[in-house]
Amino acid sequence: MSVVTTKIATVEIRDLAHGGAGVGKALDGDDARVWFVDGALPGERVRASLDAEHKSWLRGHTLEVLEPSPARVAPPCPLADRCGGCTWQHVDAAAQAQLKADIVANQLRKLPAPTPVAVPSPSALGYRRRARVHYQRDPGREGEGFALGFYGQRSHEIVDADRCPVLDPALDWAVQQVRAWARWLPESGSVHGLSNGAEVVLGLPGVRPTPELEAAIRAVIEASAPAEGSDSSPSGPSLVGVQLRAGRARVGVGRTWLELDGDGPTPPVSQGPFTFSQAQAAQNAALVAHVVEMAAPADRRVLELHAGVGNFSRALARSAKRVWTVDGDREAVANLQRTVERWGLPINAKRGQAEKLLAKLAGGGRHYDVVVCDPPRAGIGAQAARDLAAVARERIVYVSCDPATLARDLSHLAGPDAAFELVDLRVFDMMPMTAEVEVVATLVRRGQQHGAG
Ligand SMILES: C[S@@+](CC[C@H](N)C(=O)[O-])C[C@H]1O[C@@H](n2cnc3c(N)ncnc32)[C@H](O)[C@@H]1O
Repeated sequence: MSVVTTKIATVEIRDLAHGGAGVGKALDGDDARVWFVDGALPGERVRASLDAEHKSWLRGHTLEVLEPSPARVAPPCPLADRCGGCTWQHVDAAAQAQLKADIVANQLRKLPAPTPVAVPSPSALGYRRRARVHYQRDPGREGEGFALGFYGQRSHEIVDADRCPVLDPALDWAVQQVRAWARWLPESGSVHGLSNGAEVVLGLPGVRPTPELEAAIRAVIEASAPAEGSDSSPSGPSLVGVQLRAGRARVGVGRTWLELDGDGPTPPVSQGPFTFSQAQAAQNAALVAHVVEMAAPADRRVLELHAGVGNFSRALARSAKRVWTVDGDREAVANLQRTVERWGLPINAKRGQAEKLLAKLAGGGRHYDVVVCDPPRAGIGAQAARDLAAVARERIVYVSCDPATLARDLSHLAGPDAAFELVDLRVFDMMPMTAEVEVVATLVRRGQQHGAG
């Protein structure tokens, strides 16, 4: 692939690619290669500027919209044309879930698959409870000389933002507190944040604790804490703790974990700023409910791969005979083990690599009735998919945030001659204003009944 900067073309967009770019052909010239154009929507005609080229495709971004799609709107965020935190601010919030379902359908088109059902997000702004933003101290800049925000589009330059309309307001407020600590931070770094809507914990990787920084953090924690003995809900968001990490040194200032996603009979998870959490509470509740319905775990032995802090595990364990979980992240596993112990849940939580475990189980002829997996973007790969098909007796629920690797893995699990059949596809809009997708693919062993529950 080579990078070029000069070519400009008029492109007619007919589709959306995985990642959210518009896909089309140039109307001018005789270059027949496919264009992938950031910021363009199906049905549009745009002027695109070339960023990179390959022998079979060209990649660019929208310079001007010549014929807009009915789904195009004015971005709600004033930084939308520069900030890389969101790439779909220009897309009508009401249209985003279906466009994501269309992207998934397109990626899975070669498989025998049902039409994906879109699950729209209840809110498009102020929903994001987990984020990682970046900072850079820059004494040459005007004002504070401290940039804080997401990276820009197609760059690693920070777009300084004093508010972000997509973050949950408590998280947005807490992230901004970091500005006051700038003089004790390294030249550059990142801020991890997690919110439960009222309380926030932050994580600062690569930051050595100093008495001055700890005192400054404590000042924010104390100033934002609800008044002692107050029986009413806190008047504003509160920062409850910050975890500092540098090399092996880990120092917590205040309480560095939150309780999240407790729901009546399902106990909450407790987690800090560095472990994975789904980006939105309301959509996550819908996602968990769907995964449990599709897994049909009642009286079944359930294996859950990539369990994290136990987002699905606690709900699966409510009716399963037992749930065995594995995750590669030491801290997430320790969190889940604490939750299991505290609430006495029928879960065995272990640390390990899902692919290695599947190989061992398949090699030993071991089976589980139901397997739930939720890998990172890379998916599980061909061999692990084949092992998974050997290990799962009845059902597989595969949760994915990358439809391309999902399509690859499903081709080994649910292709025309495979042991499993794809019976349900659901696309949750977990992160509105971005092209991120969250797909749940439910597979049932051929010859078994489809109905969940
Ligand atoms: C997308 S997150 C899902 C976590 C959890 N299911 C949830 O909903 O919050 C993926 C998880 O996979 C874990 N992970 C990444 N690679 C892994 C591997 N090879 N084997 C096991 N776990 C892995 C990560 O630590 C992370 O917790």
